[in-house]
Amino acid sequence: MPIIIDGKLVASEVLKDLKEKTRQLKEKKNIVPGLALMLVGNNPASKVYVNSKRKACEDLGYFSVVEHMPEDTPEKKILELIEKWNSDERIHGILVQLPLPRHTNELKVTLKIKPSKDVDGFHPENFGRLVIGLPGFRPCTPAGILELLKFYKIQTYGKHVVVVGRSNIVGKPIANMLFQKAPEGNAIVTICHTAGGDIRKFTLLADILIVAAGRPQFITPDHVKEGAVVIDVGINRIDDPASPKGYKLVGDVDFDNVAPKTHAITPVPGGVGPMTIAMLMKNTFLSASGELGYEA
Ligand SMILES: NC(=O)c1ccc[n+]([C@@H]2O[C@H](COP(=O)([O-])OP(=O)(O)OC[C@H]3O[C@@H](n4cnc5c(N)ncnc54)[C@H](OP(=O)(O)O)[C@@H]3O)[C@@H](O)[C@H]2O)c1
Repeated sequence: MPIIIDGKLVASEVLKDLKEKTRQLKEKKNIVPGLALMLVGNNPASKVYVNSKRKACEDLGYFSVVEHMPEDTPEKKILELIEKWNSDERIHGILVQLPLPRHTNELKVTLKIKPSKDVDGFHPENFGRLVIGLPGFRPCTPAGILELLKFYKIQTYGKHVVVVGRSNIVGKPIANMLFQKAPEGNAIVTICHTAGGDIRKFTLLADILIVAAGRPQFITPDHVKEGAVVIDVGINRIDDPASPKGYKLVGDVDFDNVAPKTHAITPVPGGVGPMTIAMLMKNTFLSASGELGYEA
């Protein structure tokens, strides 16, 4: 029987630890971590994400500000608000929920966030820090994957990790984190993308297979080596007439058929997903406490 990696459990442990640390930070240094959240427009999924993040702040005792702006907000106004938050001492982290409306340049907005408050880890300065191994904010979903591997004592040293997907928010950062000369890295990493043809020639070599392709259930048992660890980042909606909602969520991995071949595997939902908010909260705490050593 494979180990089913329980992201809800690990996320709740991270949050429990943060709640206690937050209490101590307030008691000893009178610092309350603060997170500013910006939502532009009415994307229903974005509203749900922002609300979950706000609620996580409330549960931990963080200070939070939520600014919900209309779809047609001029870019200038978005940039001005970020500028204000950049110099607000109560705010240690700034998160602009993506995607932004079409008329807004996402890169320009990301660049406006002060790197030392960029708790999403999307600013090129933080990405550069990751690549050269300096302290900095690591993007939350990849950081959550490392936390899962650590919790389940899955060693990465000398292991062959194959990452499917090269997005800026998952594929590229997780690959970079795993080959770093660091205790949670030291892996040999291969990255696959759509130019790879039949990717089974790579995925079959993986001791740890990380899939972030956004293709429902496309990783089947013939992609996976016996005894591999499989981390499924994908979240896809597929039709399900049996469900009252008419759909269900599945990952990029055909879980039922792949799981029996694996040593350990993440389910969807309940695997990587719950880790993302937990790591955002952790980044915000690290920013407030100064433990990240950002200035280094
Ligand atoms: N759990 C979470 O919190 C979380 C967070 C972020 C994303 N996600 C989910 O993770 C999935 C990926 O998201 P993303 O933003 O990283 O994806 P993305 O920006 O859509 O990128 C997908 C990547 O997968 C590659 N790819 C797609 N089909 C492939 C195939 N058949 N063979 C090889 N490579 C293939 C693409 O290659 P090319 O570059 O060649 O096009 C691309 O690099 C989505 O389902 C998303 O919803 C979950």
